[in-house]
Amino acid sequence: MLEIAVITISDRAFRGEYQDLSGPSIVELINENHIDADVTLTIVPDDKVQIKKAILHNMGKDYIFTNGGTGISPRDVTPEVTKAICDKELPGICEMLRRESYKETPFAVFSRCFAGIKNETIIVNFPGSVKAVTLCTKLMLPLLEHGKQMILGGKH
Ligand code: MTE
Repeated sequence: MLEIAVITISDRAFRGEYQDLSGPSIVELINENHIDADVTLTIVPDDKVQIKKAILHNMGKDYIFTNGGTGISPRDVTPEVTKAICDKELPGICEMLRRESYKETPFAVFSRCFAGIKNETIIVNFPGSVKAVTLCTKLMLPLLEHGKQMILGGKH
C-alpha cells in the first residue's frame, strides 16, 4: 500500500474563493487506476511557512504531490520551499513533466516544478490547473511502485 499526500497550494482555494478541483482530480485518478494507496488531501495558501508545515507534516509517506504555486507570479513559492526541504533532487521527473506538458501548452515552460527526496519521501510539484495535474498524475502513476522500492534500497 502506498501512502500519498496531495497538497493543493492556492491562496484563492484556501480562502474558499473557488473550489479546489485539482487536488480532488489527483485523488480521483489514483483511485480510478486502482492504485493501492492511502491518499490524503490538504489545502494551504501560497505561504512559505504553511507550505513547509504541510510538507513536513506528511514526512514518512511515500509520495507528496503538491499542485499550484510553481509559476512565475509573485506569490508562487512552492518550488523554493520544496527544494529547501529536500536532501536530493530528482531532475528527471520534472524534465518529463515539462517535456510532456509542453506538448499540451507551450506555457508549460513557466512551471518551475521541483522534485526531490527527503528521507524516504519523494516530493513532486505539479502545476495548479486541472488539465496540468491530470497529465502529471497520469505520467507519475506507472512510476510509483518502482520509485518506492528503489528508495527503500531495492534493486532494479
Ligand atoms: N502543464 C500542463 N500539463 N498543462 C497546463 O495547462 N499550464 C502551465 C504550466 N504547466 C499547464 C502546465 C501554466 S499556464 C503555468 S503558469 C505553469 O504551469 C505554472 O502553473 P502554477 O503556477 O499553477 O503552478
